[in-house]
Amino acid sequence: VEEEIRNLEQGFREELGSISTLEALGVLRIKYLGRKGKIAEYFQKLALVEPGQRPGMGKLLNILKETVASHLAEKEKNLSLTKAVSGTEAPDVSLPGISYAVGGKHILTQVIDEIAAIFYHLGFISADGPEVETEYYNFTALNIPAEHPAHDTFNTFYLDFRNKDRYLLRSQTSTVQIRVMEKYKPPLRIISPGKVYRPDATDAAHSFMFHQVEGFAVDEGVRFSDLKGTLFAFAQKFFGQDIKMRFRPHYFPFTEPSVEVDISCIICANRKPTTANRECSVCHGKGWLEILGAGMIHPNVLRTVGYDTRRYTGFAFGMGVERMAMLKYGIDDIRLFFENDLRFLNQF
Ligand code: DAH
Repeated sequence: VEEEIRNLEQGFREELGSISTLEALGVLRIKYLGRKGKIAEYFQKLALVEPGQRPGMGKLLNILKETVASHLAEKEKNLSLTKAVSGTEAPDVSLPGISYAVGGKHILTQVIDEIAAIFYHLGFISADGPEVETEYYNFTALNIPAEHPAHDTFNTFYLDFRNKDRYLLRSQTSTVQIRVMEKYKPPLRIISPGKVYRPDATDAAHSFMFHQVEGFAVDEGVRFSDLKGTLFAFAQKFFGQDIKMRFRPHYFPFTEPSVEVDISCIICANRKPTTANRECSVCHGKGWLEILGAGMIHPNVLRTVGYDTRRYTGFAFGMGVERMAMLKYGIDDIRLFFENDLRFLNQF
């Protein structure tokens, strides 16, 4: 009989496993726990068992009854839950799943992150600055006085003509140099990515809003060779180990000496300018690509923030993020970054 009771439990478990509706569960409950159910049947059979074995058997049956009851309760709970959640009694596991579109970082964010990561490894940390600025931070403190012709090169959106220190949308991230240096003492190694604005007519190469990454370092004994080493290390990491770099003399009001920095064309790879690579869509046969402006921070700028120019020197640089991305990925129209066409964005 013990054997039979064990089989009874086994049978119950199998039947329970195949049940998927509350109705069927009700039928199963009656089959086992009902007044004329299987377990009741065995309790009646107890009378026929030898008196000495009755207590043991009775105990077994009571345990079985409890087990069955608790399994039924558990199953009932699960089935009710499934019904509540799906509106049907059991999920159809053969249905195709619902796929969710996974978002990604915009290509410009990816490029900014990559630039920041490279400079982070060179000891630079990131700083932020406001996009609405005053003339002081965008011009004056950067050694660009009001009557200076460079005012015109940094074409700027003005927000308020009445105030003496007019509000404007910053036209360069160099503003952050001043904001950081006002607040902190050297040594400093800072980069600052962000948006800048210039009232340019939109075309394949111009946008009224774009991104720059500014960088600068100030300490005792910072030299031009430190600038060269830093920028070369960066460009090799960003564009590839094989690039060459050249520094052309240039003019910026906030640096002296100033340079523009070129790398060898990453498409037609350092070939001498010949008619053969005049077709190169990236460098148009020049063999070189301008990637950024840089220089040694002008003593006037350091003095403006109260630094001792006999003790401290520094270098600074600024690059356009869209330009870096266009060169690296062969993108030929700046408008693609802002049109948010997923066929373009999904490629990155
Ligand atoms: N601010 C310059 C621009 O917008 C870029 C630049 C050039 C930044 C030289 C610098 C620098 O820090 O040293 O064209």
